[in-house]
Amino acid sequence: MEKISNPFPVISYQGPDSFCDRQTETEKLLEAIRNGRNTTLTSLRRMGKTGLIHHVFEQLKNKKGLRSFYIDLYPTLSQAELIRTLAKHTLGKLDPNHIKLMRELANFFTHLRPHIQYDPVSGAPGIEFTLDAHFQAEHSLDQIFSYLERSGQQLVIALDEFQQITEYKEKNTEALLRSFVQGSQNIRFIFSGSHSSMLQSMFRDQGRPFYQSNDMMQLGPIEHEIYARFIVEKFAGAKRKLSLENAERILDWCRHHTYYVQLICNRLYSRDIRQPDEWYIERLFQEVLQENQPVYYNYRKLLTNNQWYLLQGIAREQGARQVMGAEFIRKNALGTPSSVQTALQALQDKEMIFEEEGRWWVYDVFLSRWLEG
Ligand SMILES: Nc1ncnc2c1ncn2[C@@H]1O[C@H](COP(=O)(O)OP(=O)(O)O)[C@@H](O)[C@H]1O
Ligand SMILES: [Mg+2]
Repeated sequence: MEKISNPFPVISYQGPDSFCDRQTETEKLLEAIRNGRNTTLTSLRRMGKTGLIHHVFEQLKNKKGLRSFYIDLYPTLSQAELIRTLAKHTLGKLDPNHIKLMRELANFFTHLRPHIQYDPVSGAPGIEFTLDAHFQAEHSLDQIFSYLERSGQQLVIALDEFQQITEYKEKNTEALLRSFVQGSQNIRFIFSGSHSSMLQSMFRDQGRPFYQSNDMMQLGPIEHEIYARFIVEKFAGAKRKLSLENAERILDWCRHHTYYVQLICNRLYSRDIRQPDEWYIERLFQEVLQENQPVYYNYRKLLTNNQWYLLQGIAREQGARQVMGAEFIRKNALGTPSSVQTALQALQDKEMIFEEEGRWWVYDVFLSRWLEG
């Protein structure tokens, strides 16, 4: 495969060179791992949690006797899928000798059956698991964690999109996992997810199984000056000149939300312009919004009028404060406070808006900029 040469990745982690800062957060996570503590990592979607986890794992890559496993729980819908996913990404990666590993696993497990599967894209072999219909979640998890303990290595497991377990039809997953998490001597965990309030209540509410068991880390935007300098340097590295002022223009327009900043920088970089100026950058912003326009029109169809006007009102304020106040309602023709309340709840449930320090924002930065226009 051709090497990716754009220094602004927009999909996955591409190594430390294209990763900006996060030094404090990286050190904090490493320190927790070294000292045997688990961490819960939350932020807005697309702010950089997954990237940070991979960056931390990159630092651990060559540590002898230590292994790290990244697991995305987002696609899982049940305890059976959780167990298969967990098995695949931990047990299935313990030994590069797949045949030997398979034999050992097959001997050890009762309801979990390993088999070799070839990746449809790369052709590389990997181990997948099937689970007998009459499996017992507790028993299977117990076997997985016992096997991992027996490996004698120090393990770090990142469970990304951890709030997904609350969507399973089985409602005891939180309590079930907790006993294994707490009982594991040589396994440290990072729980990560975008539903800050949900994850925080899992780990903060008395009476919830994970109460007070973790360090909490809330990931904010990358610091303005550090990110601006990083962007300028990456352009300079390819003999292009982007002024600090223009890098800051991008950061501000993208509200410092990592994914959106990366996307604009990626697009700008791909244009091969020696010295993009303010005019060129402003035009790029408009082009990106235009491309997304069909999606936005579709949102328009899916929302009620009141929801749409509220969304627009919030976007135009750029951090709306009194959305139930008379002034805001009048300006945006929103009806009564109680109808605003209903619309607000609906938009929040759809994750189209979020609240931060008493101010409301449209979650998708580009949609927000388009609505402002
Ligand atoms: N520190 C960083 N420097 C550069 N790009 C980053 C950084 N953190 C995240 N990204 C990029 O931003 C995008 C969103 O990050 P991601 O980690 O997927 O967010 P989250 O997991 O919080 O939804 C990804 O394309 C990722 O490559
Ligand atoms: Mg993520």
